[in-house]
Amino acid sequence: MKISVIGCGYLGAVHAACMAELGHEVVGVDVDQAKIDALAEGRAPFFEPGLPELLVSAGATGRLRFTTDMPGIADAQVHFIAVGTPQKDGGHAADLRFVDAAFAAVVPHLADGSLVVGKSTVPIGTAARLAEILAETAPQATLAWNPEFLREGFAVNDTLTPDRLVYGVPAGVEGERAARLLDEVYATALAANTPRIVTDYATAELVKVSANAFLATKISFINAMAEIAEATGADVTQLADAIGHDARIGRRFLNSGLGFGGGCLPKDIRAFRARGEELGLGASLDFLGEVDAINLRRRDRMVELTREALGGTVAGKRIAVLGLAFKPDSDDVRDSPSLDVASRLHKEGAVVLVTDPEAIETARRQHPELSYVPTVGEAVAGADVVLVLTEWKLYRDLAPAEFEAASGRIILDGRNCLDPTRWRSAGWVYRSLGRP
Ligand code: UDX
Repeated sequence: MKISVIGCGYLGAVHAACMAELGHEVVGVDVDQAKIDALAEGRAPFFEPGLPELLVSAGATGRLRFTTDMPGIADAQVHFIAVGTPQKDGGHAADLRFVDAAFAAVVPHLADGSLVVGKSTVPIGTAARLAEILAETAPQATLAWNPEFLREGFAVNDTLTPDRLVYGVPAGVEGERAARLLDEVYATALAANTPRIVTDYATAELVKVSANAFLATKISFINAMAEIAEATGADVTQLADAIGHDARIGRRFLNSGLGFGGGCLPKDIRAFRARGEELGLGASLDFLGEVDAINLRRRDRMVELTREALGGTVAGKRIAVLGLAFKPDSDDVRDSPSLDVASRLHKEGAVVLVTDPEAIETARRQHPELSYVPTVGEAVAGADVVLVLTEWKLYRDLAPAEFEAASGRIILDGRNCLDPTRWRSAGWVYRSLGRP
């Protein structure tokens, strides 16, 4: 099929490349010339495992191109809108400026029988509003909402082999036709028996925000248990293993530590709550305020733990921070818990040496005041305390012997990703969030 993808960020660039890989003819469009130039040359503008290879292989088929030129999309049958929906400045609601702009830019180029497909995470009611505009301005086209569940770090796999497909479509024959077009787009996944749910707009929008709300709640649940564990001498990691064996609970997303960050979970739960309030349903989603508060408390606790470990103050102390990305296998530092902690320690007067396998450049743009070093060795040299704040495999595998250059023998594990016995038996003080 001929497909356009509007917005070439984490979501759009991966979607465009994967659609071409699956055999479609794809044009990716973005207003950012530098991003388009990079993608057109087969370079990923951000770190995402597997994407560079895919850009090269899909590019070589001649089925994938990138442009800033909107009229270039006119012969596509399906147009995906994959732009960001960040948190509004000074508020909790989602900022729909980019979705509205992308939609308005697509409308003049819609061919007869074409389909506009929203992929961005939006507040409930957005699709219905856009469908009304479409009915007035381009009645030859139809709108569908097809939320995306990809995780950074696994984005290519999640797009090529999704665990479910959700289509929000209008009622009647128009909706049936929209579903048939989406079935063609996702023919490969459907042939592999991927579950497919065809529903209305509101359900499709709600599926996405409620999935993220559930995941955030699961993480904050275990982090609340970590607070209790820490105060009572219990071990939250053993607790997670034990309750995780109950298939109804499950062990995934029960890793306690510094909590969630990134470009999705934090802003999505806030936007969901804000939308609930607009709908007069604040009470139904009030618990998400608590989920957010528990999550943010983890960062306070990490700073406090560092102060405690250093005898009450961090001022003038040398602190090594390993990990800046909001999670491993990403260079994304949006709402990154580790970067937040590093910057707070710097504000309290510590000399903070930070490193990360991929996120140094993205972090530096947000926090130029920190001291960035390329290697663990340079970060820990002379450090009074070492903080492991993003659980990259590289850091999980480090042995105490590799930290000889540190001045202090204190390691603080912000992700419960190290083996306490290993560090303690090597003469280190090991402390973490939620373990004795
Ligand atoms: C998330 C959703 O998983 C995905 O389905 C959606 O499409 C976008 O938002 P992502 O932001 O890439 O994906 O990251 P995810 O793997 O969900 O992790 C989010 C945050 O939670 C990270 O900061 C991670 O460190 C943290 N986390 C995750 C925990 O603290 N504990 C866990 O057990 C799991």
